[in-house]
Amino acid sequence: MIKKAIINDLIQTHGLYCIERHLIYSYLMTNALEFDKSIILSPYFEDFTLEPQLYFAITQLNICNIKELENYLELLIPPSDRKLNGAFFTPHYVVEFIINEIRPKENDTNLDPSCGCGAFLIGLADYYKRTFSKSIREIVQHNIFGADILAYNIHRAKLILTVYALHHGEYLEEGDFNLYHQDSLRTQWDKQFDVVVGNPPYVKFQDLSAEDRKYLSDHWKTVEGGTFNLYFAFFELGYTLLKSSGRLGYITPNNYFTSLAGQALRVFFQHEQCVTRIIDFSHKKVFDAQTYTAITFLNKERNEAITYDRIKNEYSPEVFLTHANGSPNFIENLNVKKWRLLK
Ligand SMILES: C[S@@+](CC[C@H](N)C(=O)[O-])C[C@H]1O[C@@H](n2cnc3c(N)ncnc32)[C@H](O)[C@@H]1O
Repeated sequence: MIKKAIINDLIQTHGLYCIERHLIYSYLMTNALEFDKSIILSPYFEDFTLEPQLYFAITQLNICNIKELENYLELLIPPSDRKLNGAFFTPHYVVEFIINEIRPKENDTNLDPSCGCGAFLIGLADYYKRTFSKSIREIVQHNIFGADILAYNIHRAKLILTVYALHHGEYLEEGDFNLYHQDSLRTQWDKQFDVVVGNPPYVKFQDLSAEDRKYLSDHWKTVEGGTFNLYFAFFELGYTLLKSSGRLGYITPNNYFTSLAGQALRVFFQHEQCVTRIIDFSHKKVFDAQTYTAITFLNKERNEAITYDRIKNEYSPEVFLTHANGSPNFIENLNVKKWRLLK
């Protein structure tokens, strides 16, 4: 259980950078991980002064694994970045479900184009470590790619992967990472990927600047009409970045099935016939916010049907994912005005 209230209290009284360092320091101490030889962590803690009260509060969180540490880092967002970042860290059962469904292959390149502090990147590193006999350095160098518009997120993603490598007795260096501080929707990408995963930003049209709205609608088909949401463009970006045999899995709001604004995205999906599977959490909350979500999988083949499953009332999202299934909804029968998906 992530104890969000404790972190929110600490944010009232301490700087975010100070909390970030105490979180990581406490994690390293609890797990007896020596970092003196790490050329990333050693300078990071050079002028670190431990504040006993803060340290004590953080030990009360009982962070028991690297995925929880990542989730806590995702909560350290300055109020001015909340709209862009969302307070939506992805729970690890969702990360694991998406990765296990996609089953990345040993030499695949995997991208999260809005990686935050690296929930999917850690999930991927862990999957590769469990599935193939590769070192963490090889995995980070060859299999894992990430980008985020906020510099501190990229920095934290590097720290998290560095700590994960330490768990396995390995030391990462700056040159090992393929992690980029950039606006993924305004980048000239020079490569395609075998796998794209993530939890893209859910930013409403109303919260974007006039300049952003114009840029986006000039460059992305899925946001042409009306009051779009930024995650539509991330679907289009992800699809564009896939190699011909590539697979994509995202968790996003589920309002693109029926909303008027979502029509351009539905047109795009029907035209490409790229959606393979949807797991709909309907009105059950995955995030601690008023956002209803679904997991969507795409590929670059021309699929005839979408396998659709919707959560039953009696299940939590986590339990539902252990046996999610689905029935085919033929794409030619879907109406772009509204997708009425049946299970
Ligand atoms: C909902 S969070 C997901 C964070 C993380 N992937 C996770 O799963 O917990 C969305 C992320 O998108 C990033 N973001 C927003 N706009 C972006 C853009 N145009 N390009 C790249 N990243 C962006 C935010 O900084 C934030 O980290």
